[in-house]
Amino acid sequence: MDYSKLRFETRQIHAGLDHNEPTGSRGVAIYPTAAYRFKDCDHAARLFELSEAGNIYTRLQNPTTSAYEERVAALYGGVGALGVSSGMSAILIAITSLASGGENIVASPFLYGGTYNQFRHSLRRLGIEVRIAPTPSSADIESLVDGKTRAIFVESMGNPTCAVPDLEGIATVAKRNLVPFIVDNTFGACGYLCNPLEWGADIIVDSATKWINGHGTAMGGVIVDGGSFDWSCGKFPLIDGPSEGYHGLNLRETFGNAAFIVKCRVDGLRDFGTSPSAFDSYLMMLGLETLSLRVRHQVEATRRLAGFLRESPKVKNVSYVGFPDHPSHDNAAKYFRFGASGVLTAELQGDLETTKRFVEALRLCAHMTMIGDSITVVTHPASTTHKQLSEADLAKAGVTPTLLRISLGLEDVEDIIADFSQAFEAAGL
Ligand SMILES: Cc1ncc(COP(=O)(O)O)c(C=O)c1O
Repeated sequence: MDYSKLRFETRQIHAGLDHNEPTGSRGVAIYPTAAYRFKDCDHAARLFELSEAGNIYTRLQNPTTSAYEERVAALYGGVGALGVSSGMSAILIAITSLASGGENIVASPFLYGGTYNQFRHSLRRLGIEVRIAPTPSSADIESLVDGKTRAIFVESMGNPTCAVPDLEGIATVAKRNLVPFIVDNTFGACGYLCNPLEWGADIIVDSATKWINGHGTAMGGVIVDGGSFDWSCGKFPLIDGPSEGYHGLNLRETFGNAAFIVKCRVDGLRDFGTSPSAFDSYLMMLGLETLSLRVRHQVEATRRLAGFLRESPKVKNVSYVGFPDHPSHDNAAKYFRFGASGVLTAELQGDLETTKRFVEALRLCAHMTMIGDSITVVTHPASTTHKQLSEADLAKAGVTPTLLRISLGLEDVEDIIADFSQAFEAAGL
């Protein structure tokens, strides 16, 4: 079916379902299998040399995961998607499918702490340099791009500060320099709040653990190929050159504008092995069915909580993109539906100790490192997600000792406000 003509709310339910499925099953089947029988030796050989599409082994593909990938690709309007076992794996596979030792990636400074770690430590050990720009402005990003740059990487809304970069401006820089533009769109809720492909991004990575799953029940990541990048520009022999693992096959010539996502699967997933389980793919598909409804509720609840916190004398400041004084207010209004997301940050009065007491006194809100869950989550980045960062990187990422990241769930927000009020008391704020 051509999903492109359907609205997001319809695609999130129907895309990926086989309406002619012989059992008449309403939902997608879970295939708990590691491998698939070949029809004969020639069939097996064709699958292995990539001249015929089909299932070989669940490390590479699985019918449940394929249905989930089709749904995600349809939601973004991409040419293909790849489900993987975590958001971190999506980033790793996307980047290592583009860059080799001696090459570099240029990134915005407003990044999730785990992404910082992967960039600063693991990718560096592989010889891939990640150059972090001092600000996410197009000019600062472009100043770090050189002939060895193989991608520009940003988060559509930075975790945890909610900084929204100028996606269109950075896409122009990427195009001018013939490098793909990768956007971590975890906060963009699988394209419902923000779809960077519509603003010139070429590749999406998304931590499906968050809004896609929506209930904190599984880990996952997904890569989406917008099909927009011209791989024949001479910089990407891994995609437009003889493929060592496939007897010299040229992925661009064979798979056209889907060459990147094929590369991520047939090399990235084959070699790193971070495939999702069929059951987790099923949970992701189920989560997606209610994505827009959940996100709308969360955006509204966040707006209400932001207003309450701004009025509270217990709070030093509230950083919420829906407020006109947020540095990213205009970019959020341009790139995000409703000009907001389901996350805000607040700096409490007091110090590190009172902040810890506050977090420990919460009864309803969960003290966890999680966002996009149906449970409201309060995270203390300085002692959790960003703990490994140096003082300088903490300052760059905007993380202070009393900063809290709050991701609204699906509860009645008035109960969340009551929980905050009692925890302020208990913390002696
Ligand atoms: C923006 C962003 N990208 C990537 C990740 C990593 O995703 P995962 O935890 O699924 O590996 C996270 C996790 O919080 C995130 O917030």
